[in-house]
Amino acid sequence: MVDSFGRKINYMRISVTDRCNLRCRYCMPEEGVQNLGHGKILSLEDLARLARVAAQVGISKIRLTGGEPLVRKNITGLVACLADIDGIDDIAMTTNGLLFPALAQDLKDAGLKRINISMDTLKEERFEYITRRGDLSSVREAVFKALELEMNPVKINVVVIRGFNDDEIVDFARLAYDHPLHIRFIEFMPVGDLLFWEPQRMMNSDEIRMVLQNDYELTPQKAIEGNGPARYYKISGGAGSIGFISPMSHQFCSECNRIRLTADGKLRGCLYEKQEVDLKEALEREASDEELRELFWRAIKSKPARHNMDSGWGQQNLRKMYQIGG
Ligand code: 5AD
Ligand code: SF4
Repeated sequence: MVDSFGRKINYMRISVTDRCNLRCRYCMPEEGVQNLGHGKILSLEDLARLARVAAQVGISKIRLTGGEPLVRKNITGLVACLADIDGIDDIAMTTNGLLFPALAQDLKDAGLKRINISMDTLKEERFEYITRRGDLSSVREAVFKALELEMNPVKINVVVIRGFNDDEIVDFARLAYDHPLHIRFIEFMPVGDLLFWEPQRMMNSDEIRMVLQNDYELTPQKAIEGNGPARYYKISGGAGSIGFISPMSHQFCSECNRIRLTADGKLRGCLYEKQEVDLKEALEREASDEELRELFWRAIKSKPARHNMDSGWGQQNLRKMYQIGG
């Protein structure tokens, strides 16, 4: 359906859990993370029902996020249910990759088409530092498993943090040169009110592109399959591509096509707004599909024209990134 500003909304991101097996410094605090209990998160049946209703209001593409979606029990079963819904023609996932190699074939068989893997560094010690517990070799394994299973296009998300991984920009480009991978450099956003974010750590996409231009010839290319706001460039002679996601330097709100469902059943029209529509409460009072459709319409109609990130995150927004799913 079309929102109040003429945007066609056909894409829903579903955060299936707020739990994660990592603790990336920009995303989650080390200690004191209160996971939502079982009663607070949507059951797989509820998720499948909401996806069915969403398809009735025009959602055709779904991305599963977290936390880390693969720590949710029977995620493969959920993918299979979603794949069965009339009108849903694309199911993708954003994952840190750790649990992917073992589940990959089952997920693909269930109907998962593509994955985006978050990998902010190619250096083992740095990976341990930024994730506070991860093992980079499993993530690499996940990347190559996805390529082997031809879950194309395989995308890698790299949050660029000045002073942490900006010296690896060229190494990441090399990976896209050597393999049919789509490396997406994401501007570091001040979301979730975490202490790790500092203005000087933010590097904008133009600066990142300048770094690359010394070593690679980049030419703009059409969007590759997917639903996101990245701008892509072909690397001359290379197998893959480079993308830039620039929420800070280039507003892409006018092209926004998405809504977000949190693990505890709240529908959000915008990542940066605190406004939410409570679907969990509606499910608990046994709302009809008709009522649920109304609630989806309400969330879509209340999508703001643009985000208001300049006015900060902290005061108005109690959630952190792992509770929304990016
Ligand atoms: N800025 C930019 N990207 C972020 N992500 C998580 N937190 C931030 C942030 N503050 C990324 C994750 C993941 C995607 C869903 O969002 O690394 O790849
Ligand atoms: Fe987990 Fe992703 Fe957050 Fe890292 S960025 S802690 S992998 S949810």
